Amino acid sequence: MSARDVSPPAHARPGQRSDEDDRTRRLLRWVFARKDLDEVRGNPDKVLALIDEFSETERMMTVGQAKGKYVLDLINEVKPGTMIELGCFVGYSAILFGDACRRNGGQRYLSLELNPEWAAVANMLVELAGLRSFVTILVGRSDVTLDKLYRTGDVKKIELLFIDHYKPAYLTDLRLLEHHGLIQPGSVLAADNVLHPGNPPYLEYVRSTVEEKREAAKKGPSKGYNVEGMRDRAVNSFMPEGDVPFLETVGNPNLVYQSELRQPEGHRDAIEVTRCVGVQEA
Ligand SMILES: C[S@@+](CC[C@H](N)C(=O)[O-])C[C@H]1O[C@@H](n2cnc3c(N)ncnc32)[C@H](O)[C@@H]1O
Repeated sequence: MSARDVSPPAHARPGQRSDEDDRTRRLLRWVFARKDLDEVRGNPDKVLALIDEFSETERMMTVGQAKGKYVLDLINEVKPGTMIELGCFVGYSAILFGDACRRNGGQRYLSLELNPEWAAVANMLVELAGLRSFVTILVGRSDVTLDKLYRTGDVKKIELLFIDHYKPAYLTDLRLLEHHGLIQPGSVLAADNVLHPGNPPYLEYVRSTVEEKREAAKKGPSKGYNVEGMRDRAVNSFMPEGDVPFLETVGNPNLVYQSELRQPEGHRDAIEVTRCVGVQEA
């Protein structure tokens, strides 16, 4: 951590005890101690309402309803057979979006989560919401899991991807997916927290022209994560210190993106919605 930011990391690294560990446990105890639990069971909206109520007093890093609305609109539009999210935490977005995917005729929702304890909490809440057979939580780092999903042939195209995990990995994971040919015309990406805490390298990339990306790719893949303009607290969260991406790649600069910001009124943060609309051959 640099001298500019001496506060503890927002979300602790592996092996460190964090406020979130305590909070997620309190959330679980509070939910499962409820006398009206049988009325909540099997009802995604009621489980979400409980997490929202808990968040009023205990800050939770969930996407929330206001920004979530933009992703729900995308689900209604894209109707993905498989939707993938990077970063599950306690399963709020997995319940909100998984339920919407199921109602839109989808087959499955894959949620990738690094922290096995949070994944366990999420599994309990997903089960409570009645979504356990639809939502699968895959524990491990996202780049390794995405690579495995590609190699096993389990995922052949990204239909709709919600990105909400380690901020420096937004761009490296996108490039990994491009490298494997999983981003194709029609693929849609929704990236959270692009204004707060912010993700300038990701925004610059998805808003670049093919020519700009080709020019940048001439330098070859960057070593490690590009953390330019990112807050220290975002860089020093979640992943072990000195971690490097699983695959070094420039991705596929020939993919044409259309990208726009969706910001709820009065919110300091926003979601970047990016659509792959073509491939520009050299
Ligand atoms: C902001 S929270 C996700 C919130 C969740 N999407 C929601 O709205 O309810 C970020 C999550 O990403 C997870 N995470 C961080 N880095 C990761 C990585 N490299 N691979 C998988 N998950 C990661 C963290 O453990 C944390 O649970």
